[in-house]
Amino acid sequence: MDVVVLPDPRRAERLAARLIADELRGNPRLVLGLATGRTMEQVYRELVELHRREALDFAGCRSFNLDEYAGLPATSPNSYRAYMQRHLFDQVNLDPANTHLPDGTAGDLAAECSRYEELIEQCGGIDLQLLGIGLDGHIGFNEPLSSFASRTRVVMLSPETMAQNGPLFDDLGQMPRRALTMGVGTILEANRCLLLATGAEKNRIVTQFVEGPLTAMISASALHLHPHCTVILDEAAGGGLQGLEHYRWIFANEPKWNTYR
Ligand code: F6R
Repeated sequence: MDVVVLPDPRRAERLAARLIADELRGNPRLVLGLATGRTMEQVYRELVELHRREALDFAGCRSFNLDEYAGLPATSPNSYRAYMQRHLFDQVNLDPANTHLPDGTAGDLAAECSRYEELIEQCGGIDLQLLGIGLDGHIGFNEPLSSFASRTRVVMLSPETMAQNGPLFDDLGQMPRRALTMGVGTILEANRCLLLATGAEKNRIVTQFVEGPLTAMISASALHLHPHCTVILDEAAGGGLQGLEHYRWIFANEPKWNTYR
């Protein structure tokens, strides 16, 4: 696992966007796994900027989002489909037919989850999976005790996640308690994972997941099993890491980071 700790959130978000952009330039048919949430908003802003300023081309890109709330129609402003339209899809040249999220309103949610897994496979699997982390250590909506082998499925959201995301709903009563999410096993099959976490509220869980033991209580810890995972943090989120100086030294000296410093 590569851990990069940058002085401020803007630099962390910009690095995440540049890594995504470079993968897309290297492979115009990229299958891109996407995340939602507050942390990603600035990453999408940066990608939109790169599209406008440097003609970053999304025409051949296929995208798969990690998750969607159960029961929320795409037209709901709180749906992850609506989030993606607002922050990215409506602002770049991604073909709408190539953007995929699980359908939280499907009549048979289990069948929808299987369909989603099959679609990812038909596209050749995910090349790069973008991830955030929840306060309870979730990636996607893989709440504590999600199996490391789990696949796309319907899950119950944890009380921590209800508290974390509830304020985004006008009325907490409108927030679904269930969601469809790629599994930890699905995520681990991506060729590359890129996790971004910023802000002091993520400090505790970041320290636990990066330097603590592998545990199903913290789904993000499964990323240690992934051969190509990059974790980008700002100082506030990563400042509690014991190996901080070591991670900084590697970022300052490792040639593969030359163009990103
Ligand atoms: C959302 C998702 C979640 C978020 C995580 C962090 O698609 O997969 O795992 O990435 O809850 O959310 P924020 O960025 O709002 O703190």
